[in-house]
Amino acid sequence: MAMVWLLFHLFLLHLLAPGNANLEGDALYALRRAVKDPDNVLQSWDPTLVDPCTWFHVTCDADNRVTRVDLGSAKLSGNLVPELGKLQRLQYLELYMNKLGGRIPAELGRLKNLVSLDLYHNNLTGPIPPSLSNLSSLRFLRLNGNRLTGRIPRQLTKLGNLKILDASNNDLCGTIPTTGSFSKFTEDSFMNNPRLEGPELMGFVRYDAGSCY
Ligand SMILES: *[C@@H]1O[C@H](CO)[C@@H](O)[C@H](O)[C@H]1NC(C)=O
Ligand SMILES: *[C@@H]1O[C@H](CO)[C@@H](O)[C@H](O)[C@H]1NC(C)=O
Repeated sequence: MAMVWLLFHLFLLHLLAPGNANLEGDALYALRRAVKDPDNVLQSWDPTLVDPCTWFHVTCDADNRVTRVDLGSAKLSGNLVPELGKLQRLQYLELYMNKLGGRIPAELGRLKNLVSLDLYHNNLTGPIPPSLSNLSSLRFLRLNGNRLTGRIPRQLTKLGNLKILDASNNDLCGTIPTTGSFSKFTEDSFMNNPRLEGPELMGFVRYDAGSCY
């Protein structure tokens, strides 16, 4: 009987202690709820588990914190969710070649450890969030093959670790920043954006000059 009481109290403690809450699982489950998943690739995403580390397409570190989400070519449609910004140790967000629509949440700019943001070949609209310039670990940013609009945020040029940038095949407009980390990217990174005016001419044409709507 004492044993049963002990277990019961441990169980209550588990429910109440904030340290045991499945915060990262809840964040990922918000994504599951926001997408259509015809192939049931998210079937193992059970929010009642202690953490999401046993879920398919999710990788954790030794502290059971999420470091990778690998859902490329998974036939997902629907939207990205701001909750993804809560995955503080996330390094790889791989959601390329799906049918995801809507905007890129500004909250992704909170992912301080993100190395790779691969959203290419989806159906994303709206602007590239300037908050992505806070991703100081970012090395790979591939947004090509969507329907993104607006200017390329000048703040992105401060991403000192950025090795690959692909913003081609979108509907971006304005001029292309050329300073900072952008000095190493060629026009291939920006091709097939019919309204993009080409590299900015420093000293002559201001970055934000000209129409862009
Ligand atoms: C892209 O989104 C639009 C609506 O914004 C929709 O009409 C279209 O079917 C979508 N395309 C794909 C390939 O999912
Ligand atoms: C980047 O992060 C800082 C502090 O976390 C915040 O004040 C700033 O607004 C962020 N920048 C953008 C462009 O969101």
